[in-house]
Amino acid sequence: MQSSVHLSNIFDPISTPAQAILELSWLVLWICAGIFVVVVGLLVYTIIRFRRRHADDDEPPQVYGSTQIELAWTVMPLLTVFVLFLVTTRTIKAVQDAVPSPDAVHVTVVGHQWWWEIRYPALGIVTANELHVPVSHQEQPQPTFLQLQSVDVVHSFWVPRLAGKMDLIPNRDNHMWIEPRKPGIYLGQCAEYCGTQHANMLLRVIVHAHDDFERWVAAQQQPAVHDPSVQVGHDLFQATACVNCHTVRGTPANGTFGPDLSHLMSRATLGAGVVDNTHPNLRAWMRNPQHLKPGNLMPDMQLTPQELEHIVAYLVTLH
Ligand code: CUA
Repeated sequence: MQSSVHLSNIFDPISTPAQAILELSWLVLWICAGIFVVVVGLLVYTIIRFRRRHADDDEPPQVYGSTQIELAWTVMPLLTVFVLFLVTTRTIKAVQDAVPSPDAVHVTVVGHQWWWEIRYPALGIVTANELHVPVSHQEQPQPTFLQLQSVDVVHSFWVPRLAGKMDLIPNRDNHMWIEPRKPGIYLGQCAEYCGTQHANMLLRVIVHAHDDFERWVAAQQQPAVHDPSVQVGHDLFQATACVNCHTVRGTPANGTFGPDLSHLMSRATLGAGVVDNTHPNLRAWMRNPQHLKPGNLMPDMQLTPQELEHIVAYLVTLH
């Protein structure tokens, strides 16, 4: 699954909204570059042409006002701003007015301090920090529409190669959409300061070929694996406060405060991208959650070393 992780780059869009924004950005950059060249050119010309020469110490002619020049420097900026206004409005409208096609994927993304809850209401899937979507081909478009919410403070969803930024605001539904045209893993992050671990609120979007996406959906829809060989860890997990915050589908654990753990091991990272999701990192996280990501809301459960081993052994079976 770790095939190709693509770094963020706003100049290399692979999704329709990001492409539209890049085209607008280039237009604005070129217009501004043109203005810059004209202004600096006139400035340099004036400095050289009208510099003080030794010979003439006379006061230059004093000119007060020129209707033509004042009209020129009023009308030209007005026209420029008007053009920028029109093209910006056109792009915003094109990005915001997109209508979901019948086979569009609908996802609700909920911002938490400091992780992403990712729900697929129509598919009955809940996961965290990894948004899985199908690739969208021109012949067979399958865009993904996101509903953005927050349970605490304002966050911002930003995957530069897929779309612009959009805030997640408490008590408000925001919307955005992506239409990735190339399978791969695209990195994003929270783009609005949301507390001490804002920088560790990372996000990855995994774009699957159509069949791979169907397989991922089918696997995530399964209840959590029940492995009798880790029954002790399972029972310990169910008997501690873990279940108040975490859900493991098919067991009594149904907390919603923290990430859903039903398919924990299908995810690549822990703590929203803080470390890779490996056995030793999971143990380190469980031993003291405040060590790897200080300030996060998971408390130290004060487990004995034996309890820790049993619970970790249980969690690593949750594929
Ligand atoms: Cu969430 Cu910054």
